[in-house]
Amino acid sequence: MLVTSKAILEASLNGFKEGKPFAIGAYNVNNMEQMQGIMKAARETQSPVIVQVSRGALKYAEDKYLRNIVMAGVELNPDIPVALHLDHGNNMESVKRAIDLGFTSVMIDGSLMEDSKTPSDFAYNVKITSEVVKYAHDRGVSVEGEIGTLGGIEDGVGSGQTHLTKPEEAAEFVEKTGVDSLAISIGTSHGAYKFKGEAKIAYDVIESCRKLLPNVYLVSHGSSSVPKELIDIINQYGGKMEHAAGMPLEALQKAIQAGINKINVDTDIRLAATAATRKYLADNPSKFDQRDYAGAAREAVAQEIMVRMKGFGTTGHA
Ligand code: G3H
Ligand code: 13P
Ligand code: ZN
Repeated sequence: MLVTSKAILEASLNGFKEGKPFAIGAYNVNNMEQMQGIMKAARETQSPVIVQVSRGALKYAEDKYLRNIVMAGVELNPDIPVALHLDHGNNMESVKRAIDLGFTSVMIDGSLMEDSKTPSDFAYNVKITSEVVKYAHDRGVSVEGEIGTLGGIEDGVGSGQTHLTKPEEAAEFVEKTGVDSLAISIGTSHGAYKFKGEAKIAYDVIESCRKLLPNVYLVSHGSSSVPKELIDIINQYGGKMEHAAGMPLEALQKAIQAGINKINVDTDIRLAATAATRKYLADNPSKFDQRDYAGAAREAVAQEIMVRMKGFGTTGHA
């Protein structure tokens, strides 16, 4: 069933308050096979799920195809709570378009200017986010804002510089804007190259935000694990992804213990699909039916997401 992200994230916040923390995965979707993989994982683990769509995804898939693909997944799985969320909305127009399409949740990333690259100032972020909150809440739609910025530019969302969230500023931001969820910068970045050495996560920032904002859903972007097994398969079958590194599952579990409620995963879905496709085509050089390799990719996506749903603790919460 289609619900708001607030409806799904409330259970995570209650879990934290009751000393049984778990987090909801928010998975990016760009096509039918990814959506099918996500829903298979949600069904098999009985997990609620946030399906998120970027502006790039809406452009690639022509927004109505993607909306209808997601809605098909919702219709075919009536017992699974699903929120349809706009990832990194950059202005009022992108938010309005998503709400017109039937999204139940939107992100306005006012930490960056409309180009999604240039860091904004606090006043700009408060202004655009407040406008979105008013518009979305009047229509029953949940809102995620962002304070602090993530590094990483290769996916087109990010300034290239990390600015960790300042907890006091986060508290003032929430008070001024009324957002339901807040993306905080804790040292991660988007994409497949997050860390040079070991993953360094600012757990203290999560803990302080959790204390200052007991009723806000805290979001970790840039949270793909970039599993070595997938990178090895990609490199073995003709890819070139040296030095890729992500946020290990154990680090994510520590972040959940510290108070994170929503975990954004996109890159791992891309890696799972790419590894499976490369391997399938190398192992089956005479095959040319797109359903064969897209089917292998779909199954790899389902398996990878199942690992996260179990690791984030959402199993059985549908
Ligand atoms: O946060 C960014 C997401 O990974 C979306 O990436 O704009 O390439 O679809 P994208
Ligand atoms: P990854 O690139 O780590 O998957 O992050 C995705 C994300 O934060 C989407 O908003
Ligand atoms: Zn993000």
